[in-house]
Amino acid sequence: MIGSRLLGTGSALPRRVVTNADLSERVETSDEWIVERTGIRQRHIAEPDETTATLATAAARAALADAGIDASSIGLIVLATATPDNTFPATATKVQNALGCNGGIAFDVAAVCSGFLYALATADSLLRTGMAKRALVIGAETFSRILDWDDRTTCVLFGDGAGAVVLEAAPADAPMDGPGILGTRLHADGAQHDLLYVDGGPSTTQTTGHVRMRGREVFRHAVVNLTNVLNEVLEETGVSAEQIDWVVPHQANARILDATAKKLGISPDKVVVTVDRHANTSAASVPLALDVARKDGRIKSGDLVMLEAMGGGFTWGASLIRI
Ligand code: UT7
Repeated sequence: MIGSRLLGTGSALPRRVVTNADLSERVETSDEWIVERTGIRQRHIAEPDETTATLATAAARAALADAGIDASSIGLIVLATATPDNTFPATATKVQNALGCNGGIAFDVAAVCSGFLYALATADSLLRTGMAKRALVIGAETFSRILDWDDRTTCVLFGDGAGAVVLEAAPADAPMDGPGILGTRLHADGAQHDLLYVDGGPSTTQTTGHVRMRGREVFRHAVVNLTNVLNEVLEETGVSAEQIDWVVPHQANARILDATAKKLGISPDKVVVTVDRHANTSAASVPLALDVARKDGRIKSGDLVMLEAMGGGFTWGASLIRI
């Protein structure tokens, strides 16, 4: 049996940090409201010379360095984003060219905040079928470019950034013992389109559009959907919640992280939280948080790590990996 295992992680953030106090000068909000309702204290916002592709490339380079491998051995790049540099071609092809590993497979995946989970599952499947031997899976976003900066209900919530992992096809060891992606579940429900969407696009308005969200309703769905999908992955893999070493969730709101961990009976100490520093970076948030917790020494080789996310569509998913 062939599986895929993680060789390295990397991330990249724009240079500029924007605090809640900075935002309160632009819209009617306060540090107190944002911290209490979301846990966010600051976010990184891309400068004009920083794009989804440049951030993705920097994260990919960091992941390759961490894995100790050369870009030339990468045969597959799957990049999750809702904010591509151009409508086409795929931002993944720009990253491929910047890394100098042209010739393999490269494409984007659009599943918004759960994009990284969708991209990871896609790369895992392609590696298992022998389509490539090594893959870069990237989540990268410049959500600041699709925010309505006069809408306080959305503009305070998001940030920019990128995270990447290197995967390699490898013989799967005894189930659950060796490193690898052990189980993944993905879902979508197109009936919930109007709760979280962008009000523009090439085929409708010929504009880029802005993020629109009915936050309270999204919150309610998020806790239910995430709890359900996490339970599905636990059931599929035969792992109990107590066996999980770390949960690396999509970083939308500290209260969603707390509520989901509580429902599963997982201690909050095992949940990686970066929403305070990065805010919601959509598809980038899971690989960014994974990289932070690996680099600061919390997530170690052999750990059982649950990744999970939910976003516009709705789309949602979870994946259990042994590092
Ligand atoms: O990444 C994809 C998934 N996204 C999510 O998971 C986001 C899920 N939703 C949330 O995180 C939360 O619903 C929010 C953080 C978006 C909002 O928190 P909430 O506790 O649900 O607040 P609310 O929307 O019910 O708004 C409460 C009040 C409202 O005022 P009224 O109607 O009670 O007078 C809002 O107008 O807070 C007001 N408000 C603000 N006040 C100060 C909304 N945004 C702000 C703001 N500053 N930035």
